[in-house]
Amino acid sequence: MSKQRFLITAALPYANGPIHIGHLAGCHLPADIFARYRRMQGDDVLFICGTDEHGVPITIAAKKENTTPQAVADKYHELIDVSLYKFGISFDNFSRTTNQVHKDTAAEFFTHLYDKGLFIEKEEEQFFDEQNQQFLADRYIMGTCPKCGNDRAYGDQCEKCGSTLNPRDLINPRSTLSDAALVLKPTKHWYIPLDQYEAWLREWILEGHKEWKTNVYGQCKSWIDGGLQARAVTRDLDWGIPVPLADAKGKVLYVWFDAPIGYISATKEITNDWKKYWCNEDTHLIHFLGKDNIVFHCIIFPTMLKMHGGFVLPENVPANEFLNLEGDKISTSRNWAVWLHEYLEEFPEQQDVLRYVLAANAPETKDNDFTWKDFQDRNNSELVAILGNFFNRSLVLAHKFCGGRIPAHHVLFDGPLEEQLWGEVEAGKQKIEAAMAQYKIREALQEMMNVARAGNKYLTELEPWKKAKGEYYVGETEEDQLHNKYLVENCLFHCLQLSANLSILMYPFMPFTAKKMLLHFNIDKRANELLKWEHIGRKDLLSTRYIINNPVLLFKKVEDEQIAAQMEKLNQQKMASAAATAVVKEESVATEPLKAEIAFDDFAKMDLRVGTIIEAERVPKADKLLKLTVDLGFEKRTVVSGIAAHYAPEDIIGQQVTLLANLAPRKMRGVESQGMILMAEDADGKLQFMQPKDTTSNGSSVA
Ligand code: 2FM
Ligand code: ZN
Repeated sequence: MSKQRFLITAALPYANGPIHIGHLAGCHLPADIFARYRRMQGDDVLFICGTDEHGVPITIAAKKENTTPQAVADKYHELIDVSLYKFGISFDNFSRTTNQVHKDTAAEFFTHLYDKGLFIEKEEEQFFDEQNQQFLADRYIMGTCPKCGNDRAYGDQCEKCGSTLNPRDLINPRSTLSDAALVLKPTKHWYIPLDQYEAWLREWILEGHKEWKTNVYGQCKSWIDGGLQARAVTRDLDWGIPVPLADAKGKVLYVWFDAPIGYISATKEITNDWKKYWCNEDTHLIHFLGKDNIVFHCIIFPTMLKMHGGFVLPENVPANEFLNLEGDKISTSRNWAVWLHEYLEEFPEQQDVLRYVLAANAPETKDNDFTWKDFQDRNNSELVAILGNFFNRSLVLAHKFCGGRIPAHHVLFDGPLEEQLWGEVEAGKQKIEAAMAQYKIREALQEMMNVARAGNKYLTELEPWKKAKGEYYVGETEEDQLHNKYLVENCLFHCLQLSANLSILMYPFMPFTAKKMLLHFNIDKRANELLKWEHIGRKDLLSTRYIINNPVLLFKKVEDEQIAAQMEKLNQQKMASAAATAVVKEESVATEPLKAEIAFDDFAKMDLRVGTIIEAERVPKADKLLKLTVDLGFEKRTVVSGIAAHYAPEDIIGQQVTLLANLAPRKMRGVESQGMILMAEDADGKLQFMQPKDTTSNGSSVA
């Protein structure tokens, strides 16, 4: 097929916090896998992303961190950029919506629609916070979602059911800034008349894109069938791109108007030829995102592009559902997440393991759950036991029986097993292509693993280690011995050529491992030349006599203690967040909903005791953990606690604490922890001990 042009976008994360596994699984990883795959096909690919730095999420974070929105955006842009880079997300540009090119591009876009007379200009009553003397928009307002009853829905969106809302849709709207009563005041804004584009959207999506994923098509249909309404694209805020009109002082562009234009400005930043991508019907424009962004990318942004004219429209929007964490929704505000920058510290050099687990468990058709147990299982029984095992065995055997070089191909010794093996490679390649064409990343990944499985099966059936001992073709003549030697060499020839093929097949999913494999064959410098899709199936990727390096393990086992440490960390996060919620509630600011009611018996099961820390030391190679000895009066306990970032060991000797004393013991980093210390998190994110007000005898019950 001739070379195609792909413009691939991944949703711009808000620069209001670090990035977590939900972002990666939901859009950046599938987008990267797809982009790498298309580049390997020889296509002209531009892969675009950046941080979304305007809007209420940023100003709220600035308030919380007691700094300016620009400082918040600077800090998190850097953190997000580095994290995604380290995970191998191969953007051609990772830009920012506070860059001047973007501000100009967004303002020009608005002016163009304005000059064409396409906006509706109207004055409407909107919620005003009298205490803060400001209009409240979007996330400054919270209330109950009229569609699903979630009482933490925002003024622009309910994150629970994905509905896009207007503040006045909310039941019991309240300010997230203050307790002040909300009053309605008139204010002027500019609206895009979505209703006027309903017939076009119906035709373009409901008739023209029946192939879109069911979840995406379904959301579009329900929006369109529900009746589209004009949508304001400006806001009364002091953070954002100023509305470029003389009579719009104090007003900025709505963040959802400017952010998707960020895809265009990020393209402009890296090529003068940006119109080749954006203004050309031959471009395949593909937006990757999570389900809460569907309406913006399928309805609102395409309508903006259509109103403007001259732009290509998205060909597909392969949105994912949500990834949960240990059965609970991932939440930045509740600190219920696995943060990418922390993973990189805790699992150094293991980016591909997380890439693999998230792709294997991608929430493509329904919400899925990330659990640390599944992470461990997939690593140990798939990556280590199948892929790593095949590669390692092949290399070890080649060193043992072929002098550490790529052996010759003894074609005469090829038989049905070889035919079957290469048949599986060809079938795998075709199945991956078919899956990729439908953005079924999980399926594609599975097919790649099936090829590795076929390799293991082949090696096990051929048993070259037995043949090398002469067990297969017993004979005494020199010719007999050569027969065995050729069989062994031929088998390893196929295994090694298959390994090189596997590195191509796996490159979109696990780029670090693929290159590590090539390093063993000393052809990493030719990686770009080799890592082409068209090479799959070739049995001459590695020239005979190439020297093979000594094998190092591609993957290492994830130990129980590592998983226990992660679970402990999550528990600490949950407890700290619950404690913080209690403080916030005290201050009458919006709170988390209470957990489901429990019976007194459930509570009574917990044995909480007062104790005193009598010894404390750091746990080697675990910068978050302290090993504590807690005196409970009647006995002393060893407890491992994730507080090392907050407390120096020497500062907490003598500290009284509350200990959950009947928690089943767990090993963390080789140390058995016999209980859990209760902590609260203060407004600055600092952990505080839950201690009795006055010194209390060790061992006292807490109830
Ligand atoms: O939901 C979000 O995190 C948004 N910041 C996504 C924006 S995508 C695009 F339009 F820029
Ligand atoms: Zn809802």
